[in-house]
Amino acid sequence: MMTAPFDRRLTWFMIFMAFAFLTPMCSQAQDGQRLAIIPAPQQITIKDDRFAWTDFGTNAAPETRAFPGGSPWVYTQLQERGIEPLHGFSFLQFHIDSSLVHPEAYILEITPRLVEITAGSRQGLLYGMTTLLQTITKDSLSGQLYSPCLLIRDQPRFPYRGMHLDVCRHFFPVSFVKEYIDYLAFYKFNTFHWHLTEDQGWRIEIKRYPKLTDIGAWRSETLIGHYRDHPHQFDGQRYGGYYTQEEIRDVVAYARDRGITIIPEIEMPGHALAALSAYPELSCTGGPFEPATKWGVFDDVYCTKEETFTFLQHVLDEVIELFPGTYIHIGGDECPKTRWAECPVCQETIRSNGLADEHELQSWFIQRIERYLNAKGRRLIGWDEILEGGLAPEATVMSWRGVQGGLEAASQSHDVIMTPGKPCYFDHYQSTQEGQPLAIGGYNPLSDVYAWDPVPPSLDPAFTQYILGGQANVWTEYMPDEQQVEYMIFPRMAAMAETLWSVPANRDYPDFLDRLDVHTHTWDQWGVRYFASYRQEPIPTTK
Ligand code: ACM
Ligand code: ZN
Repeated sequence: MMTAPFDRRLTWFMIFMAFAFLTPMCSQAQDGQRLAIIPAPQQITIKDDRFAWTDFGTNAAPETRAFPGGSPWVYTQLQERGIEPLHGFSFLQFHIDSSLVHPEAYILEITPRLVEITAGSRQGLLYGMTTLLQTITKDSLSGQLYSPCLLIRDQPRFPYRGMHLDVCRHFFPVSFVKEYIDYLAFYKFNTFHWHLTEDQGWRIEIKRYPKLTDIGAWRSETLIGHYRDHPHQFDGQRYGGYYTQEEIRDVVAYARDRGITIIPEIEMPGHALAALSAYPELSCTGGPFEPATKWGVFDDVYCTKEETFTFLQHVLDEVIELFPGTYIHIGGDECPKTRWAECPVCQETIRSNGLADEHELQSWFIQRIERYLNAKGRRLIGWDEILEGGLAPEATVMSWRGVQGGLEAASQSHDVIMTPGKPCYFDHYQSTQEGQPLAIGGYNPLSDVYAWDPVPPSLDPAFTQYILGGQANVWTEYMPDEQQVEYMIFPRMAAMAETLWSVPANRDYPDFLDRLDVHTHTWDQWGVRYFASYRQEPIPTTK
C-alpha cells in the first residue's frame, strides 16, 4: 500500500487528539470484557496477540520532544494516569493514503508494538482513533490495559449520520452541548443539528437584532406536567438563556476537531413567536407577543412582508458567518396559515405573485430564502412541509412525518435525510416498563431503532442514492435537564449509530446487545444517566 508522508502539523494535531481522547478513555477500559465496537466495523480480523498500553513507555522510541498542543488540560489528564508525555508516541502512527477514496474510510492495524491508522482524510483518521479507543480493555488479572491485535477496514454505509438537539424548549449550556458532541463523536456521527430558535426561546445572539436575545430568549414561566393534562399549570419561574457568538464559534471549532459538522436551524415561517415577541412588526397582526410558556403550534408566524425578508436575510448573514458547513436548516414545519389568510399584506403577496393559496405562499417564502442561501454558497434544508406548494429547486428534505415526504422528495431527485417519528424521535418513550419519566408520548424502543432502515423498501432503487442517511431528533419539551436528555439518548443513540454506519450484513441485534452491555460501563465512567433495562423490552422478531 502506498502511504504518503503525513503533513507534520496534522500529525501533531492527531497526536494531540489521540491523547485528548485516549487518556479519559483509558479509565473506561473494562475488566476482561469482549471486544465491543459500536458501530460494528465493516471488516475485522482479530489476531492472537496484544498491544499493551501500560507498557507503552518501553514500546515507544525514546524521543524527547515536548508534548504538542501545549494544553494544560492534556498534561493534567496524562499525569493523573501516571503517563509522562515526554517519552514520545512513535508507537501510534497515522498515515494519509490517497488511494482510500471514501472520505470517511480508515484502516486500523494493531500489532504487539505498533498501532497504525491509515485513512484518506483527517475524518477517517478520527474514526480510526475512535475505534482504537473502543478496543482498550483491562486485563482482569494483571490490571494491564491492552488492545487485541487486529486489522479493521471500515467505512460508513451512509454519508449523513445525525443527531439533533432542541435547546429552545429547554436550554442547555455550552458545557453540555460539548458533551453531547463528544457522545456523537464516540459513535461516529458526523452531523449535529442544533435547533436554535423556537416559539419558547431564541437561543443565538444576532448582533444586528439584540432584542432577539434580550427579549426572545426569556419566557415568563413554563408549563408543568403534560400538555394534555388540564387545567394547564405553570411554574411561575422566568426561564431562558442563549449562546453568544463567541460561544457558538467555540462550539463549532470543538465540533470540527471531533469530525462533526453543525447544521444550525433557524425556524421560519412558523415556530417564530420568540422572534415576534422581540420584533412584533414582523407579524401579520403587530402583536404584542410573548415567548410561549407552553408547547404546541402557534398561529402567529412571520408575515410575508418585505421587512421579514430583510430581517431574515440579516439574521442568516450572521448565521452563515458563524457556521462554515454547507447546510442551513430553515425549519419550515408546522406553519399555520390562519394569519396569512386574514392578512392584507400576505393576500397581496399571493395575488401579485400569481400564487394559488397560502400553501403556495409558504413554498414561495422558502424558495425566496433558498435563493438567498444559494447565492451565498449554502444549501437549504427543511422539514418535509417544504414540499407543500412545491419544493424549492435545490432543497434537501428532512422527512419527519413518516417517510412519505422523503420518498416524494427522493423521487424528485432531491436529497433526503430520513428521520421519521417512528423510530427516530427520541423524545418518545423507550420503554413500557413502570416508572419511566414523563415523555411526550409514543413508543420507540431500542430494538425499533436498531431494526430501522433509512431506505424504505418501497423506494425505487433508481432513487436510493438520494437518501443521504438518517437522524435522531431530541425535542426537549419533556427534558428539563441534562440527565433527562442523556436518559433519552442512551442507549438509543448507539443503535442509531450502528443503523447508519454498519451494513445490514454486519448488524445483529443480540450481538449488539452484548456489545451494548460493555458500553454501559463506559457510560458509567462518563457519569451519564441511561436507560439500563433495555434487555427487559420485547425482542423484535426481525433483526
Ligand atoms: C417537527 O417535529 N416539528 C419537525
Ligand atoms: Zn401577513
